[in-house]
Amino acid sequence: MRRMVVLASAVAVVASAAAWVRRSRGVVSTGGPGVMPGRIGSWINGYMDRPLHAAVARLLALQPDDDLLDVACGAGYFLTETASQVGHVTGIDLSGPKVELARRRLGARIAAGTAEVVEGDAGSLPWADGRFTAVACMDAFPFFPDPEGALAEMRRVLRPGGRAVIDVNPRIPEGTESHALRGVGGRFMAWNDADVRRMVEAAGFAEVEISHLRGSDNGLFNAMSRRSFGTDEETIVAAVKPLPSPPADAARAEEAGAVG
Ligand SMILES: C[S@@+](CC[C@H](N)C(=O)[O-])C[C@H]1O[C@@H](n2cnc3c(N)ncnc32)[C@H](O)[C@@H]1O
Repeated sequence: MRRMVVLASAVAVVASAAAWVRRSRGVVSTGGPGVMPGRIGSWINGYMDRPLHAAVARLLALQPDDDLLDVACGAGYFLTETASQVGHVTGIDLSGPKVELARRRLGARIAAGTAEVVEGDAGSLPWADGRFTAVACMDAFPFFPDPEGALAEMRRVLRPGGRAVIDVNPRIPEGTESHALRGVGGRFMAWNDADVRRMVEAAGFAEVEISHLRGSDNGLFNAMSRRSFGTDEETIVAAVKPLPSPPADAARAEEAGAVG
């Protein structure tokens, strides 16, 4: 009898493991720039980046009627954390398996029509001009092969007056030239603040503000970052897509009105 129970338990364990693997098919193995593999990788990423996500949400000053886009959303942690604060959340990521995880995480909202996650490249966003009121991008920008192109796309899909907050790179010491680094997940760029500002302004953003913060509150992770990059701080840039300037005639009339 005891043997039967042990055997039945063993069969149950194997069956559960097989079911988990079946359910996970397509979401366990991942690859590509900046991808932490599998569910555990995604969980580590989501856990480590919590303070960064909170800071980005604060800088975006999210409102209930916001239509938010997270570029390189990974497994959708930021979207899940912010979904209740805004009207609609959208994510895009290059990795199909991460998109699948994000879709599972946001299943109820997707069914309700208040969330969407698509597979795609930050350099070619599949939405019309001015679709979103807020754009976020975290822990991914330095991996983009064409960062200027990605910035231009983020600006294009923002509504005039809309806000973008981008976690740009590990902070590099003052006076250091921007340079490529090699780290977890492949080659990526580290820019100094002056170059960040130049790039973001060149993409047509205004009100550019740069800040620095410790991306994680995990001591071990921060020590690893210091070892890899010489810092555990991130550079965050916040910017606004400017409103169109009024046509010259209207501006002159307004000026005349003010004088007269
Ligand atoms: C380290 S993860 C960060 C995920 C998420 N933003 C977060 O903070 O948890 C980096 C993500 O960037 C995505 N990625 C890298 N290059 C990309 C590109 N060109 N376009 C879209 N996503 C990209 C990867 O697939 C990966 O999911």
